[in-house]
Amino acid sequence: MELINRPRRLRRTEEVRRLCRETRLSPDALIYPIFVDETLSGVRPIASLPGQNHYGLDSVCEAVEECLAHGVTHAILFGLPAEKDGCGSSAWAEQGVVQEAVRAIKAKYPDFYVITDVCMCEYTDHGHCGILCGQEVDNDKTLDCLARIAVSHVRAGADMVAPSDMMDGRIAALRSALDADGFQTTPIMAYSAKYASAFYGPFREAAGSAPAFGDRRGYQMDPHNSREALRECALDASEGADILMVKPALCYLDVLRSCAEAFDLPMCAYSVSGEYAMIKSAAAAGLVDERRIMCETALAVFRAGANMLITYYAKELADAIRQGEIG
Ligand code: PBG
Repeated sequence: MELINRPRRLRRTEEVRRLCRETRLSPDALIYPIFVDETLSGVRPIASLPGQNHYGLDSVCEAVEECLAHGVTHAILFGLPAEKDGCGSSAWAEQGVVQEAVRAIKAKYPDFYVITDVCMCEYTDHGHCGILCGQEVDNDKTLDCLARIAVSHVRAGADMVAPSDMMDGRIAALRSALDADGFQTTPIMAYSAKYASAFYGPFREAAGSAPAFGDRRGYQMDPHNSREALRECALDASEGADILMVKPALCYLDVLRSCAEAFDLPMCAYSVSGEYAMIKSAAAAGLVDERRIMCETALAVFRAGANMLITYYAKELADAIRQGEIG
């Protein structure tokens, strides 16, 4: 029987699949996290993140060279300082670990795009993301410190700052401090919808930033909520954020989608340490195909509305894109 108006599915040949992709990935949209340890000389593997390294200031350029070899041109820097104190003062030291790392990178690779994570938890002896008043973080006292950190990073040559602390008013504080210092054009990527997540476990081991007491639920978001993320994004947008971020990625794709639809700012997703470590360990146990899972999860994040992705798999993903495993 001949059915004239029968709806037909597009025949999914390889050419048609390539033509009709709704989501396209590019190495340009990938950001690689680099951990710099002030006390280290050389390169040391990070036990909690198989395949990732701590770099000493003498070897941070090696991390950049590896990125460039894979076609990754953007990184976000995290610092492990030699000294910690109650107010995290090494975070804004002119000769601090991140500041020196930025200078070292920029001296050799001026075109490599350097984003710095702006937070205090790696620098305070109590591991919280701000200045304490008793057992609580004092939001407003912390703002001055965050602004000093951001300005010191940008003075050292950082291209963009990414505050991850979740204090109220930090975007406005950073924006006005940067403007006052002559950095009106330096963008701010706001960790806007940052959830109080168990997926940061391997990072905290890698960065030595686990809180000494309590947790971060007072300032990070409650995983029960998605509409609250819209409010967090709205606040950051109104204070002058240039890019909004949802973090973690995979468990919060609904949040990513709704923020991407609600705001006209570029959206970043952070595929965090626990997401990476889960894939790594399942693959090491022979349970999943690492390469395909890596590709599929990255696709999911972009399909949900991300314009860029911070991921420990940035180099491998760039290879997969170039080799046509994902498009
Ligand atoms: C600093 C910060 C954290 C991460 C990025 N910046 C940890 C935290 O909030 O405890 C987590 C990144 C990851 O897990 O990969 N505040």
